[in-house]
Amino acid sequence: MNASANALFVEHVSKSYPLDGLDRLVLKDINFSVGHNEILGIVGASGCGKSTLLRLIVGLDREYRGSITRSNAGDPGKRVGMVFQDHRLYPWLTVEANVGLALDTSPLSARHKHEKIGHYLHLVGLSDFAKAYPRQLSGGMVQRAAIARALAQEPDILLMDEPFGALDSILRMRLQDELLAIWERNQVSIVIVTHDVEEALYLGDRVIVMEPNPGRIRDIVTVDLPRPRDRASLDIADLKKRCLSMLM
Ligand SMILES: Nc1ncnc2c1ncn2[C@@H]1O[C@H](COP(=O)(O)OP(=O)(O)OP(=O)(O)O)[C@@H](O)[C@H]1O
Ligand SMILES: [Mg+2]
Repeated sequence: MNASANALFVEHVSKSYPLDGLDRLVLKDINFSVGHNEILGIVGASGCGKSTLLRLIVGLDREYRGSITRSNAGDPGKRVGMVFQDHRLYPWLTVEANVGLALDTSPLSARHKHEKIGHYLHLVGLSDFAKAYPRQLSGGMVQRAAIARALAQEPDILLMDEPFGALDSILRMRLQDELLAIWERNQVSIVIVTHDVEEALYLGDRVIVMEPNPGRIRDIVTVDLPRPRDRASLDIADLKKRCLSMLM
């Protein structure tokens, strides 16, 4: 993959947090790039810095060493979208208003915004719940609403922090396939953090395996398998064994 085919570069990124008056290194010399339209999985033990890394990429925290650059940074039409680990829907807003937050600063007319919100709600199968409040939705529906909000920004890079965590396995598989369908229809690079190695291998073109204390990259595994993939294939099982042996 040549450099111009990359959407995002993370170079020599290190990050510390203060703990008991000392600086504790949380991320150590992280290096990777994300290709245009690539899906990159990130797996690693709890606390190895996965959410921290996404927060740095999306720009929520600018205190780090190293550099994070996007090839499209100069183009205001190109954005980074994020689905947070805790979803962050506003309980006092309806589903459509939550999704509409993504378009708050958009110059579009009210009618166009409304159409766009409808489009993304449809995409995640929530058209009938536009007027519902988050408390009226199931856990999986809340997660889909959060995904719709991130997509409505029409990002060219979508960061997802355990978007399907805490879902039963059937719903999880369905949402994974919905995500792949959305990815195929839209030009978007996806970075997805998950604690589920199988999920990372099913979705990802490559999978970063991290290790903790301090959080660093152990290996980057290429998943060179055609899509649609067979979750039960021997190839996936082999890659899973390899990733798990690094994680254990
Ligand atoms: N705001 C903060 N201040 C101080 N330390 C923090 C802060 N946020 C995270 N940390 C520490 O940084 C480390 C990495 O946290 P992070 O949330 O990035 O891990 P993670 O890999 O996403 O874990 P999980 O899989 O459990 O979500 C943890 O040890 C955590 O205690
Ligand atoms: Mg996390």
